[in-house]
Formats: sequence, structure tokens, C-alpha cells
Amino acid sequence: YSGEEVVRLQELEGNTVTIHTGLTGVQSDAHILWFYGPENADIKIVISLIIRGEIITDYDSERFRDRLQLNRTSGSLTIRNISREDSGVYKLHIITGSISVWSFSVDVYTPVSKPVIRNQAEKRSVSLRESCSPLCSVENGKDVSLSWYEEKERISSISSSDSSERLYLPLNKTNPDCSTYTCVAANPVSTQTAQLDITELYLKAVEVPESAVLIPAGLIVALSVLFLLYWTKTCKQQGKKYIL
Ligand SMILES: *[C@@H]1O[C@H](CO)[C@@H](O)[C@H](O)[C@H]1NC(C)=O
Ligand SMILES: *[C@@H]1O[C@H](CO)[C@@H](O)[C@H](O)[C@H]1NC(C)=O
Ligand SMILES: *[C@@H]1O[C@H](CO)[C@@H](O)[C@H](O)[C@H]1NC(C)=O
Repeated sequence: YSGEEVVRLQELEGNTVTIHTGLTGVQSDAHILWFYGPENADIKIVISLIIRGEIITDYDSERFRDRLQLNRTSGSLTIRNISREDSGVYKLHIITGSISVWSFSVDVYTPVSKPVIRNQAEKRSVSLRESCSPLCSVENGKDVSLSWYEEKERISSISSSDSSERLYLPLNKTNPDCSTYTCVAANPVSTQTAQLDITELYLKAVEVPESAVLIPAGLIVALSVLFLLYWTKTCKQQGKKYIL
């Protein structure tokens, strides 16, 4: 054999995964072997032989223990409760008169974490709108990306191969309007979203920690609420205009 094609699979940790061969009728007297390795498939994990007309199948790998199941009709291999450590290269050898080889690359992912939106404004600005600068962040991992969506349209995105660093993405809108903004974290097997609540962010922006300034703070909060009510109303009116 030569020039073998590698089939790529992306799976969620904990799932039962079947590596399908697409074959339907493997010769009943074929010898079937599966190999695995993180980079090269050099560890034998399944061996199924016909000896004097009898099928003898061994799953002799410590790593997979009793999680493997071979289907001799298709040559397919089922892996129960797959883990990230099971990522790597899987190879199937079917030996009849000749030897045929299939290769698979399997990537196992954990579900992505939920993104968190915070206000990154440090200064307590007089203008409430200026003090609103949403920053979305998520725990990084393999092939994780973080994006902002305005309505259905992606407006920015970030990813990093350094999984130890948390991912941060500012909304980067000087004046977030009445649109719906969503922050989406994704990897190849899962997505998580956080919806931006501008109202809540404005209120957080005017929170004052020191108890000594309770009265002025209360005043500011009250003013903010008034502002928000006004602002929400304006938004709704704008919305109505659109409808009309
Ligand atoms: C084995 O594979 C064949 C062919 O794909 C399929 O029809 C059959 O149901 C499978 N057997 C089991 C036990 O999954
Ligand atoms: C699946 O595997 C993990 C370790 O990777 C283990 O902690 C867990 O108990 C297993 N779950 C089942 C249902 O076997
Ligand atoms: C934010 O937007 C400004 C202007 O639109 C641009 O120059 C800047 O690079 C953007 N920053 C990020 C982090 O996207």
C-alpha cells in the first residue's frame, strides 16, 4: 500500500466514538489489527485472528482496558468514554492475502467554558456611555476561539495557541447602541454564549465601593436608573420606527 488517506475525527470527551471504516463485508477469515499512538500508531490495541476456524480477539492494551469493541464485519472500532488522552493516530490493518491499511487522526476535546462579560472601564466617567466598555473573556483550550456578534454578524474574533493564557476580547464599540451583542466561545465540538446586558453593565459602571460616599453614590445610581429608563425608551421608539 502507499499514499494512504488520513480521516480526521473531532470528538467530545466522554462520548462513545466509533471509528467507521465504511466497509460492509470484511472477509470472514481476515486477520484484523488496530494500532494506536499519540503521534505514530505503534501500539497494538486490538488483534483479531482466525486460528483453526476460531475467532480469537484480544484487547491487550492497559490504556483502553475494557473500553474497546471491534466489529469484525466492518472492521470498525468503538471506543467508550473517550478521553483527551486518547487523541492521536489510529491505524487499521486488515490482512487477507494482502494487507490493507486505514489511518485515522482523532482529536478529543472537552466542552468549551462559558464566556464572561465584564466592564473594563476603570474611571468612573461622567458620561455613562463612556464608562461602558464590555470585555469578554474565557478560559483558553485546544482550538478555542472567542468572538463578538452584533445581531447575527461576527464583528471580531480572537484565538491563541497558548492554552495557559485566558482569552480576552473587548467589544471595541465606543457607543454600543441598541443592537444585541453576543459573545461566543467555541471549539470544534461545542459552543457557549453570553449575552451582553448593557443595562446591567451601566449600573455596574456607576457602583461605588466606599461606604463613605453612600449618599452621592445613591444619587448617581438613581440618576443612572433615570437615564437608563430614558435610554431604553429611546431604544424602543427607535425599534418602533423601524417596524413602521
Ligand atoms: C457491524 O457492522 C455492520 C456493517 O457496518 C453493521 O451492519 C452491524 O450492525 C455492526 N454490528 C454491531 C454489533 O454493531
Ligand atoms: C470515563 O473516564 C473518566 C476518566 O477519563 C472517568 O473518570 C469516568 O469515571 C469514566 N466514566 C465512565 C462512565 O466510565
Ligand atoms: C478597535 O477599533 C479601532 C478602530 O475601529 C481599531 O483601530 C482597533 O485596532 C480595534 N481594536 C481591537 C482590539 O480590535
